[in-house]
Formats: sequence, structure tokens, C-alpha cells
Amino acid sequence: MNTENTVRVWDVSVRIFHWSLVISFAVAYVTGEESDLIHAYAGYVVLALLCYRIVWGIVGSRYARFSSFLFGPATIISYIKNLLGGKAKRYLGHNPAGSAMVFVLLISLSITVWTGLELYATEGKGPLADNAIIVIGTAHADGHENRGNGGEEFWEEFHEVASNFTLVMVFIHILGVLFSSKLHKENLVKAMITGRKRAP
Ligand code: HEM
Ligand code: HEM
Repeated sequence: MNTENTVRVWDVSVRIFHWSLVISFAVAYVTGEESDLIHAYAGYVVLALLCYRIVWGIVGSRYARFSSFLFGPATIISYIKNLLGGKAKRYLGHNPAGSAMVFVLLISLSITVWTGLELYATEGKGPLADNAIIVIGTAHADGHENRGNGGEEFWEEFHEVASNFTLVMVFIHILGVLFSSKLHKENLVKAMITGRKRAP
């Protein structure tokens, strides 16, 4: 590939993280109704990826670090207005709207995994099942006396809402990627595969 007029933006680990997350999220989502082992393991992979990305967001390469894409609400709103007006500025790393979506996705995925683990624990399975401290803590938090059937209903509802909310965010994320790609006439999906973008 001709790399003359391009710059490396996404390091290899961010790209592996991204496409592994796409696969593991999709597998977890479609196997949700069955509650089989594949569902739990796909969820654990999402958890491992989230842990990795949080550490890499602190100590990672230039464009992977959270500090390189922290924008205030005013910048995010004005970027979205410009984007809709077809005149948004081009960014080499995440743009302000994209960066807000990265944080929303990471938080929403964390809540989805956490509620999945709590739900699994009500069946006596998974890493939270034997954790007495968490059992007592959540018993008070969800207003149930124990984590029997009552707790199961609560966590099932919470887990379902969290996973569907994440799915909606994923669709908006993909629309945003396609919209920005069109506006700046650059293939952002390809950039998440090769790691490279046109030099500014
Ligand atoms: C990003 C990761 C995850 C996604 C997208 C996801 C998604 C879903 C979905 C869509 C359902 C079906 C909800 C319904 O319609 O009632 C579900 C159910 C469930 N999930 Fe997850 N989940 C994730 C992670 C986890 C994890 C880590 C665990 C635990 C290890 C877990 C345990 C469960 C259990 C026990 C059910 C109930 C299945 C049943 O009996 O119907 N999930 N999940
Ligand atoms: C096929 C569907 C998808 C495509 C084409 C896609 C594409 C992309 C692209 C192009 C970027 C870089 C955005 C930029 O240039 O600023 C990105 C980033 C990101 N996407 Fe996706 N995405 C997809 C699905 C998903 C899913 C399912 C998730 C989560 C469940 C997700 C989570 C993320 C995250 C967390 C980032 C930030 C990457 C980082 O900085 O580590 N994406 N995506």
C-alpha cells in the first residue's frame, strides 16, 4: 500500500480491539435469549476488551489515549451542528462527536456486562455467584431481601434495557462513521482496518 501521504492513527491493538469487540458484541447479543455458555463467554470477552481499552486509554499510543480526545460539551454540540450543516472540521483522531460516542459505548457496554454478571449470579453461576460481599450489597441496592427470583427479575430487566440501549448507540455510531466518511471523502472504516489516514 502507498503510505507516502498517509499517517498512522490507529495502532494495531486498537484495531484488533475494535473488530474483536464488534464480533464478541454481536455474538453476545444474538445468543442472549438462550443463556448458554457461548453467551457468557462472549460477554467475558467483551469484559476483557473493555479492561484492555481502559488501560490503553491511559498509557497507550497517541491517538488511543483518552486525553487526546477529551472535548467539552460546547465543542461537541458545535461539531454536531457543523456536521449536520455539512461543514465540520476534519480531525485526525476521533472527532468531538465520535469521542463522545466512544465514552458512551464504553460505559454502556460496562453496564451491560455488569448486569449480565449479576443476572448470571442469580442462577448461582459466574464470578459474582459466590461473592458474599457483593451479594449483600446488591440485596440492599435493588430493594430485594435476597438474590432469589425477585433479584433475577430485576437484573433481567436491567440487563435487557442495557443491551438494547447499547445496540441503539451502536447504530448511531455506525451512522456517524458513515456520515463523517462521506463529508470528508475518506473511508473511516478502511482506516480502522489499515490504521492509516490521509495526512492533514
Ligand atoms: C456486551 C455483552 C452482553 C450483551 C450484548 C448481552 C445481551 C443479552 C441479551 C440481548 C439478552 C436477552 C435479554 C432478554 O430478551 O431477556 C441477555 C440475556 C442474558 N444475559 Fe447477557 N449480554 C451480555 C453480557 C452478559 C454477561 C457477561 C453475562 C454473564 C456472564 C450475561 C448473562 C445473561 C443471562 C444469564 C441472560 C438471561 C438469559 C435468559 O435466561 O433468557 N450476559 N443478554
Ligand atoms: C460493522 C460495524 C462497525 C463499523 C463499520 C465501525 C467503525 C468504526 C470506526 C471507523 C471507528 C473509528 C472512528 C473514528 O474515525 O473516529 C470506530 C471506533 C469505535 N467503535 Fe466502531 N464500528 C462498528 C461497530 C462497533 C460496535 C458493534 C462497537 C461496540 C459494541 C463499536 C465500538 C467502537 C469503539 C469503542 C470505538 C473507539 C475505538 C478506540 O478508540 O479504541 N463499533 N468504529
